[in-house]
Amino acid sequence: MKPLPVVTLWWVLLLVPRLGATRKGSPEEASFYYGTFPPGMSSLCWSVHLSIFQKLTKSYIDTQGTSDQMWLHWGQGSEWGLEGGGARIPCPAPHHLLQEDIALLRELHVSHYQLSLSWPRLLPTGVRGDQVNAKGVKFYNDIIDALLKSNITPMVTLHYWDLPQLLQVKYGGWQNMSLINYFNDYANLCFEAFGDRVKHWITFSDPRAMVEKGYETGHHAPGLKLHGTGLYKAAHHIIKAHARAWHSYNTTWRRRQQGLVGISLNCDWGEPLDIRNPEDIEAAERYLQFCLGWFANPIYAGDYPQVMKDRIGRKSTEQGLEMSRLPVFSVQEKSYIKGTSDFLGLGHFTTRYITERNYSSRQGPSYQNDRDIMELVDPNWPDLGSKWLYSVPWGFRRLLNFAQTQYVNPPMYVTENGASQKSDCTQLCDPWRIQYLKGYINEMLKAIKDGANIKGYTSWSLLDKFEWENGYSERYGFYYVDFKSRHKPRYPKASGQYYKRIIIANGFPNPREVASWHLEALETCSINNHMLATEPLLNHMQMVTEAVVPTVCALCILIAAVLLMLLLRRQS
Ligand SMILES: *[C@@H]1O[C@H](CO)[C@@H](O)[C@H](O)[C@H]1NC(C)=O
Ligand SMILES: *[C@@H]1O[C@H](CO)[C@@H](O)[C@H](O)[C@H]1NC(C)=O
Ligand SMILES: *[C@@H]1O[C@H](CO)[C@@H](O)[C@H](O)[C@H]1NC(C)=O
Repeated sequence: MKPLPVVTLWWVLLLVPRLGATRKGSPEEASFYYGTFPPGMSSLCWSVHLSIFQKLTKSYIDTQGTSDQMWLHWGQGSEWGLEGGGARIPCPAPHHLLQEDIALLRELHVSHYQLSLSWPRLLPTGVRGDQVNAKGVKFYNDIIDALLKSNITPMVTLHYWDLPQLLQVKYGGWQNMSLINYFNDYANLCFEAFGDRVKHWITFSDPRAMVEKGYETGHHAPGLKLHGTGLYKAAHHIIKAHARAWHSYNTTWRRRQQGLVGISLNCDWGEPLDIRNPEDIEAAERYLQFCLGWFANPIYAGDYPQVMKDRIGRKSTEQGLEMSRLPVFSVQEKSYIKGTSDFLGLGHFTTRYITERNYSSRQGPSYQNDRDIMELVDPNWPDLGSKWLYSVPWGFRRLLNFAQTQYVNPPMYVTENGASQKSDCTQLCDPWRIQYLKGYINEMLKAIKDGANIKGYTSWSLLDKFEWENGYSERYGFYYVDFKSRHKPRYPKASGQYYKRIIIANGFPNPREVASWHLEALETCSINNHMLATEPLLNHMQMVTEAVVPTVCALCILIAAVLLMLLLRRQS
């Protein structure tokens, strides 16, 4: 998950009440499109996401021979508002729950499952030459085999934000270009170990948030605040590392393994605040280029977007720097990087209205000052659990169409899309998430009708899980997880039922059927809600039996022993 308020809240989420009057949503919002995904689209895979990372806990590390990853060093202070201290919440190791989770996947009828590998779990120091953790390899082999046995295709992310701590300490993480080689070695290890069975590889997931939060604002591990420089440098190395891994696959593994390697980029849609104002149109374009184009443009067109090069270059000069803070690709690098994605992974959650920034801010270099935009939201948009997340389905179609035209109709996988809910709400009936799913998947269907080459859709996420700086407080799952209970029981939410119906029907066949899904899902969840409500009682009973049974047994044995002694004494 995902992620994060796009920027610090105080200036981002300005509400625009007047929008309600001037812009009543968007025309396409009104029209729901009934229809199924094209029959040739059997290749369209329906998927859910779970990052295995959040279950990598300290006690687990000690038994599995893996090393630290940097998120364990993160968020232990209450200043981050983490419930229970970052990633340290003890969870059962995933393999205890593997069969159970796979049963949930089968229940959802997904054909694919997106998971991420943990670099430190496989390479404790981060360096392949040092040591490969055999237990880590076995761990993922077991998961992959179990998935395949259930006819579920794994889609695997190599790097989702969790860098081995040693690489951070020793090299400054992605600041340092030596990481490109280390990543390539790690990628080759994964291709070698799992590539006979894994055919969909994502090198990096949401690298923009990783560098912005990790190297600019410091909101994420490793928590650096290198304003206006660190993130560009880190991104530069990540793009090169991606290209390097792609080339490795192409030259060494592709012929044998016949798989695909791509990158997954997250971006919200940026809509011009006033569609008739050229400045707003330009600002919205800039927003998208700084978000999606930053990584996609080098990979699809060989270089950073022109607007980034111009702006950051100009501002760097104004700041008295000799060189642009945006690093430069050499001619050889450009041609090496261009064309290194077999598909474009897209993560998308919400939309912003964008306008030119109308106030001056703190001086000095920063990503925000380079972009010079303001993000606004319409107060009429339904808001969800996360404070940055508003449900705006039509923005999804626009983003998909934008990517389709910008990068010349690449095959696309939607790698993340979903809606959260706060944990204090233990509600299994989540009609608002059903609305979100229905709206967003429907807009994706429209985008396919528009001609976008969409191959798959992954919903975020299977289970409630660790949400980065928000810890366990935001819940995205189709299954509710009772984290407080020792066995971490899972309860299906209504939205999971609904997603399953969409998957089985491969779309939205007709109004009557779609309406019946809604009713059915809400009926089931209210029954489950009752079950959940009785859970504390069951837990209590379980505790009582756990305490009472051994005590009674011990007493019985004791009494028997005493009686036996008495008996023996009397006989002697
Ligand atoms: C990269 O890491 C090496 C080894 O620690 C160090 O010598 C070098 O200065 C680092 N480079 C940068 C740009 O930080
Ligand atoms: C990928 O590999 C194929 C087959 O070896 C080769 O023909 C092609 O040139 C490679 N692509 C790139 C961009 O290097
Ligand atoms: C900047 O724009 C916002 C949103 O349109 C508006 O509320 C605010 O008053 C403007 N500020 C200035 C200084 O013009």
